[in-house]
Amino acid sequence: DTSGTPWGHFGDPPGTPRESFGDTSGTPWGRSGGLELLRALLSRTLGLGGDRAEPVLDELSLAGVGRFIKSDRCKNIVCMVGAGISTSAGIPDFRSPGTGLYSNLQSYNLPYPEAIFEIGFFKKHPEPFFALARELYPGQFKPTVCHYFMRLLQDKGLLLRCYTQNIDTLERVAGLDPELLVEAHGTFFTSHCLRASCRQSYSLAWMRERIFSSLVPKCEKCQGLVKPDIVFFGENLPSRFFALLESTLLIIMGTSLQVQPFASLISRVPTNTPRLLINKEKTGQSDPLMSLMGFGGMDFDSDKAYRDVAWLGDCDSGCLALAELLGWKEELEELVQREHAAIDAKGGDRDGGIPQKPQGDEDKDGGSPKKSLGDEGKAQSEPKKGLGSKAKAEKDPKKPQGGDKDKAENDPEKSRGGQ
Ligand code: OAD
Repeated sequence: DTSGTPWGHFGDPPGTPRESFGDTSGTPWGRSGGLELLRALLSRTLGLGGDRAEPVLDELSLAGVGRFIKSDRCKNIVCMVGAGISTSAGIPDFRSPGTGLYSNLQSYNLPYPEAIFEIGFFKKHPEPFFALARELYPGQFKPTVCHYFMRLLQDKGLLLRCYTQNIDTLERVAGLDPELLVEAHGTFFTSHCLRASCRQSYSLAWMRERIFSSLVPKCEKCQGLVKPDIVFFGENLPSRFFALLESTLLIIMGTSLQVQPFASLISRVPTNTPRLLINKEKTGQSDPLMSLMGFGGMDFDSDKAYRDVAWLGDCDSGCLALAELLGWKEELEELVQREHAAIDAKGGDRDGGIPQKPQGDEDKDGGSPKKSLGDEGKAQSEPKKGLGSKAKAEKDPKKPQGGDKDKAENDPEKSRGGQ
């Protein structure tokens, strides 16, 4: 199991510390490991002590999810998002073949693509990361339809929390309340000196200036290396990430669900919470052995499927389709137009128009990964290889915009017998 290390994809080089031994968050065994396994096995095979979840959706389809949201039973929606929600804003994702960042890093001369986000590598060789930051720095911070759909959920009092892996700050620009936002992989919004004795904070504007002057950012107080507060592989996630989720609906958008512990969120919602995936491909499905043992990857298609719905296509279209089912489509389109016009009026503010914290201020919003080195903190890790490629293999190219049709073959009656 190399899932706890950034080396996961490439195998451990000799002498690499095996972080994964202490950190099982990247595996389905979780913290209580063996006990959980035993419980799941007993509940599966003997019907003992299992939580037999009653299906909540009247149909495993986008329309079924829409009806559930409109009912008074759906009060707390949790969103889990990744790079795919920002690609329509012109920011590449990581793993899409050809366009994803990891297939375009040849010029940086890295030992392996993920090294660019690996803390040990960064401390020795910060240049590639800052060169990439310069290359990818958004010309304009313009959130997508998908971001504004989450804003609508918030405005309507339905959003319990948004977990994002993205570091582009677009959730903030779209007006999501920082209290509801968990920037699980940190953010570019603030930066800190890496020296433990210093930890001086710097603003996005300060960092942007350094990035564009091609200087490796150095602390003005101690000359230590300054790094944006994004969570590198080998760093801990904010402790807020680990709070329990009392959600009634999970909406997962634009993520390959390949990086732990983020991906494990899908298993941390109650067993009867419906999970809607809006993505170009099916992701998060566990391998058959794990499913047999009751470990909850997504199950869109089996006879036992009872709560998971995949809407395959681009996130903006998926959100518009859902908004239409909810009777919010016009409102969403107007919101996008209004907000984009306001951003344009500011002339493409490169800091996204978000009020900057004064330099030297302590980070109070929980976005700083270093502030969260509590017991609960888990290092971000690359997962086991198989899942993503498997999910890709299972993608049905005939159904790219399928919406409800994607699940038409699923008989909701049949699925009631599951779990
Ligand atoms: P990935 O690049 O791994 O996955 C993006 C997913 O979104 C893929 O499944 C794409 O098919 C899908 N996708 C892309 N564009 C889309 C669109 N317009 N509409 C719908 N789906 C779309 O990105 P993440 O899952 O976010 O860590 O990656 C997770 C982490 O891996 C990142 O946070 C990053 C990286 O290493 C860091 O710490 C920097």
